[in-house]
Amino acid sequence: MNFGLIGAGGIGRIRAQALAQLPGCRLVAVADADPERARAAAPPGATSFARYQELLESCDVEAVVVSTPPASHEEITLAAVAAGKHVLCEKPLSNSLDACRRMVEAARRANRVLTTGFNHRYFPAVKFLKQTLSSGRIGTLDHVRAFAGHTGLSEFQAPWMYSKNAIGGGALMDVGIHIIDLVRYILGDVREVYGVATTGVWNLDRSEDNGFALLRGVSGRVATLHATWTEWKGYRFFVEAYGDRGMARAYYAPMFAMAIYLDKPGGRRQREFHFYPEIILREKFRGWQTTTTLAFQEEFQDFVKLAQGAGSGAVSLADGFAGFRAVEIANAVYESTRTGLPVRLADPF
Ligand SMILES: NC(=O)c1ccc[n+]([C@@H]2O[C@H](COP(=O)([O-])OP(=O)(O)OC[C@H]3O[C@@H](n4cnc5c(N)ncnc54)[C@H](O)[C@@H]3O)[C@@H](O)[C@H]2O)c1
Repeated sequence: MNFGLIGAGGIGRIRAQALAQLPGCRLVAVADADPERARAAAPPGATSFARYQELLESCDVEAVVVSTPPASHEEITLAAVAAGKHVLCEKPLSNSLDACRRMVEAARRANRVLTTGFNHRYFPAVKFLKQTLSSGRIGTLDHVRAFAGHTGLSEFQAPWMYSKNAIGGGALMDVGIHIIDLVRYILGDVREVYGVATTGVWNLDRSEDNGFALLRGVSGRVATLHATWTEWKGYRFFVEAYGDRGMARAYYAPMFAMAIYLDKPGGRRQREFHFYPEIILREKFRGWQTTTTLAFQEEFQDFVKLAQGAGSGAVSLADGFAGFRAVEIANAVYESTRTGLPVRLADPF
């Protein structure tokens, strides 16, 4: 599949590297408002543009990766699906829920694939957790616990990265949006949200430093979630699934997974630990980007399958609706903070 990349900043460059090493995928064009960045990210033979509209006019491009700041995702995605392209859009799907809805609806009307860049689904520890739950080893799911955070202020390379207008919120819309998605991925769809967002530490453009949420799934099962920009230790997240016979945990960084479960009701405790030494070593010498690149590659492989007609059940990808729902859950925490009440989510459209 021939890809075009729009937005060749920090993440766009990793997307370009992931595509360059992936059999069956070709990066044929790169656009960035900064033409130097577009040129630098374009592999040999690919065309670079300063205006994304010119990239969309190229018949060669079958699918587009949108890796610009969130406030421009809607405009670019609507133009891309109108030009007949499939779209993989970075997280968060947009800085506004109405924009997310318009993006999902436009892709459906045009019969184009729209997916959200929730690449954490492809981290080996998360895959272990998902498989452990599906295998029945921890029994029937009871509840989910999730956390994600980074250091906040020192993490941001550009002012838009902590601007409420640009990203639609704070920690929940930034690092938190990945674990909001992972909670839905494990728990199933969410029906109700209660939460509190706080701004006591950095005072960054009205964006919350911490978001705490209690979610009730359509199944009636519960999840707790905390997203933070005050994780002094540095970037990390975990997701845990608790069943009626045991529990499983996915943790990063470093990559780590474990499960503890009874081999039969009332039976012996079994323990599984996965330390991923090859990932830890690779990251030590070549950086966290190596893990992200591998996750992006698996995500692209699923994207191609989906665009070629595989059903959504055959892939682990987060579709456009998953991107919409994640933003809706973050927004529900903001509303709940204002009113002190739980928020019921809209029915799927
Ligand atoms: N999947 C992940 O794990 C992950 C991690 C971090 C960031 N992100 C997301 O990736 C996206 C990009 O983040 P980043 O860190 O690379 O940002 P960045 O600021 O480093 O890069 C953004 C690039 O987009 C370009 N740009 C902006 N508006 C444009 C337009 N209208 N047309 C063409 N180019 C335009 C800028 O010139 C810049 O080069 C964001 O949505 C961010 O939330 C995803």
